[in-house]
Amino acid sequence: MASGTWTAKPSIGGAGVIRKPTPHLSGEKPPVLPPGQIPRHVALVMDGNGRWAQERGLPRTAGHEAGEAALFDVVEGAIEIGIKEISAFAFSTENWRRSPEEVKFLMGFNRDVIRRRRDEMNEMGVRVRWVGRPKRLWKSVIDELQAAEELTAKNKVLTLNMCVNYGGRAEIVDAAAALSRDVQAGKVKPDAINEKVFARYLDAPSMSDVDLFLRTSGELRTSNFLPWQSVYAEFVFMDVLWPDVDRRVLWRGIEEYSQRNRRFGKA
Ligand code: IPE
Ligand code: IPE
Ligand code: MG
Repeated sequence: MASGTWTAKPSIGGAGVIRKPTPHLSGEKPPVLPPGQIPRHVALVMDGNGRWAQERGLPRTAGHEAGEAALFDVVEGAIEIGIKEISAFAFSTENWRRSPEEVKFLMGFNRDVIRRRRDEMNEMGVRVRWVGRPKRLWKSVIDELQAAEELTAKNKVLTLNMCVNYGGRAEIVDAAAALSRDVQAGKVKPDAINEKVFARYLDAPSMSDVDLFLRTSGELRTSNFLPWQSVYAEFVFMDVLWPDVDRRVLWRGIEEYSQRNRRFGKA
């Protein structure tokens, strides 16, 4: 195209104007760090909702409700500091082991949150994606996730991977099964399989490796979250319960990350 005829297109649909994140109520700004010390991809294990509610004599579900604001404040803080990708663990393949009442609540709640927040995410240029297994997941949840994916598909400010019915082993096993089918169909030669080829069969093939893996609630485990993508992640575990989180907790996590020396096997 001749340069004279070029008109810049807005990078998002809708109004076409990207809304900046609202500053935090406290007036705090993100820490100033060299770009190389800011993680590109942050994985969030949003844990501690039940305990937060229990401490207040409330049902566990009240903790989940209180956790919604925490996630979306963290997304705004992530945009402010320049993170490009967040993976939020919303429901694991193991969470089906909870009481039928809690599972039912979490399904309906995830569906409603995704619908409630999608316009706001779109306005800020956030691309929402679903990462997880369709099996057992409520159709209404899948429908909302897909609607949010469609609405925000072209956005480039930040990618928010909503990990709903996600399990790391499930993801790897499903990838192995899909790859086996392609081998059997003659589309892939076994000798050509390497890490790059295998990764194309994961739930979200374009997901980048996790730089910072952050878990709240004081538990020191990964609970089957993004094992393939986190092999070289830096782990930060925090004692705060998820509903008490806001963007400043993310920023403290990033400050800790910025002090780490990542070597990737090199001397
Ligand atoms: C995390 O909080 C949310 C989900 C797993 C859906 P929990 O519900 O695990 O809260 P705790 O760990 O029991 O306090
Ligand atoms: C991990 O938290 C899953 C989510 C945050 C969605 P859990 O509370 O389910 O993990 P465990 O059971 O303590 O390992
Ligand atoms: Mg928990």
